[in-house]
Amino acid sequence: SPVEEQTQDYLFKIVLVGDSAVGKSNLLARFARDEFYPNSKSTIGVEFQTQKMEINGKEVKAQIWDTAGQERFRAVTSAYYRGAVGALLVYDISRRQTFDSIGRWLNELQTHSDMNVVTVLVGNKSDLKDAREVTTAEGKDLAEAQGLFFIETSALDSSNVAVAFQTVVKEIY
Ligand code: GTP
Ligand code: MG
Repeated sequence: SPVEEQTQDYLFKIVLVGDSAVGKSNLLARFARDEFYPNSKSTIGVEFQTQKMEINGKEVKAQIWDTAGQERFRAVTSAYYRGAVGALLVYDISRRQTFDSIGRWLNELQTHSDMNVVTVLVGNKSDLKDAREVTTAEGKDLAEAQGLFFIETSALDSSNVAVAFQTVVKEIY
């Protein structure tokens, strides 16, 4: 009989975390559907998308979870983080306040998830060059101090979006 190709199903849960309007939902929309919404509304509750990826020639599936940055729209925290093996901790490079919140998000992540969840610090909206309030060096420094990976992305112009998700999945895998 013909040799059939074995397709192993790896399913990795990845969570998006960060203040409201940093671009979590648009990062997911760009990555999973190559779409961007200039006027997207706040997420209410939880949404997730499963995205096939190829890592080292093997097919893996990332199940990416997205919830609201605003407390009043958020789903039950423990359920959101349960089973997550990767996290994208997102801030907006054009709003310092969202960078200042990272410590709080990291705390929540570490409280509710496994100790070894692979975490990437993501400075989104790198296209907003003239409005930048957080330098690349500051992002790098924080990531280094906290033992996180670091990348700057733009969901608007697509730069580094796939790389951000691939970085986390590669490290898990
Ligand atoms: P919550 O669901 O409230 O937590 O927000 P969110 O983090 O999911 O933000 P969302 O993706 O809804 O984006 C908020 C706003 O920022 C929207 O108007 C987006 O169009 C805009 N936005 C998202 N990513 C980018 C980006 O990379 N560059 C620019 N210029 N705008 C972006
Ligand atoms: Mg959202």
